[in-house]
Amino acid sequence: MKIPFNKPYISAKAEEYMTEALRSQRHSGNNAFGQKAVNFMKQKYGFNEVFLTPSCTSAMEMGALLTGIKPGDEVILPSYTFSSTVNAVVIFGAEPVFCEIDPNTLNIDASKIEAHISPRTKMIIPIDYAGISCEIEQIMDIAKRHDLIVMQDCAQSFGGYFNGKPNGSIPHLAAFSFHETKNMNAGGEGGGLVVNIPEWHQKAYFMQEKGTDRRLVLDGVKSKYSWVDKGSSYLLSDILAAALLSQLESEEEIISKRKQVTDAYYKLFSIFKKKGNLNIYSVKNHIRTNHHAFWVVFDNAGTRSLFMEKLRAFDIFVYIGYMPLHSSPMGAIFGYKPDSLPITEAISERVVRLPFYAGMADEGLNYTIEKMHLVLSEIYGK
Ligand SMILES: Cc1ncc(COP(=O)(O)O)c(C=O)c1O
Repeated sequence: MKIPFNKPYISAKAEEYMTEALRSQRHSGNNAFGQKAVNFMKQKYGFNEVFLTPSCTSAMEMGALLTGIKPGDEVILPSYTFSSTVNAVVIFGAEPVFCEIDPNTLNIDASKIEAHISPRTKMIIPIDYAGISCEIEQIMDIAKRHDLIVMQDCAQSFGGYFNGKPNGSIPHLAAFSFHETKNMNAGGEGGGLVVNIPEWHQKAYFMQEKGTDRRLVLDGVKSKYSWVDKGSSYLLSDILAAALLSQLESEEEIISKRKQVTDAYYKLFSIFKKKGNLNIYSVKNHIRTNHHAFWVVFDNAGTRSLFMEKLRAFDIFVYIGYMPLHSSPMGAIFGYKPDSLPITEAISERVVRLPFYAGMADEGLNYTIEKMHLVLSEIYGK
């Protein structure tokens, strides 16, 4: 049996909705299915406004454009993240300021943010690693005291909650990914930008539509549209929005299948955690995970490699997680060295992300658990 790292889930209504979108002959962004998906999200999760975009990467670029970030500004973010988080502001000339992570969640360590604030700081971009929210209320409190903007990179955390509030509903801006590797996907690629500041909505409508006021024409306010602001094409095709809607409607089923995967991994890895061989995360009571991923922090880089190698022999594909940004070639250009963030550096060398997809609950989970148990017993003893 082959266990891939990820397999996109196909929801029951996907074909029906995508065919309907195709036959409508209105395929561009912000058409019928896009509007339905946006309304669904606003009603269910209480987002102020949502813009469907081609990816989370483009959602964050649009968010950064909206804030007016510019050369000379500083942005605080974790180094343990994907390049898209940092590129969103670097492409506008801003400078990243990397902050350490919490060794339990691998999210930004909120208690260390304030030490990085300077007169040039404009923004904080925390991420929700593996679908577990960062300490967003603490971060919003810091932002309020220092007059900073928070854009939460919720690429992995759609459908999770913080203190009973849906991820994405608390910060000024939030970006989701609907890439095929995520819990919910928009037919391969997709994203969403949540804008929780009403005064920014009109600017965002214009920026999403190439800097034009086309939105006012669609709303019947104007007869012709013109170039009114900076902007780009941050639109999701309606055929992909149809796929996304089918996934949004299947959220409960997707999350309950994914929970079975989390539970099985917890049961297995708790045995080895108790023996002090490795570490697994815990989720605090005020946070509800969306069961996006499961990761393990091994005792050293050598056992991590051994675990990965032995699983490959059983055709089980695991993955090392992020390469920290501060120790990447671009990180060096911004003056960072590997030892600038020792916690991030040390943990990243020992992380393994396990195969995780909704369909695993139906096929492959038992095989995976059995082989992982065997491999761990070989490495650490029974
Ligand atoms: C934290 C984070 N931000 C952004 C992205 C980019 O998402 P997308 O592929 O939708 O652009 C990813 C991708 O996995 C991610 O992990």
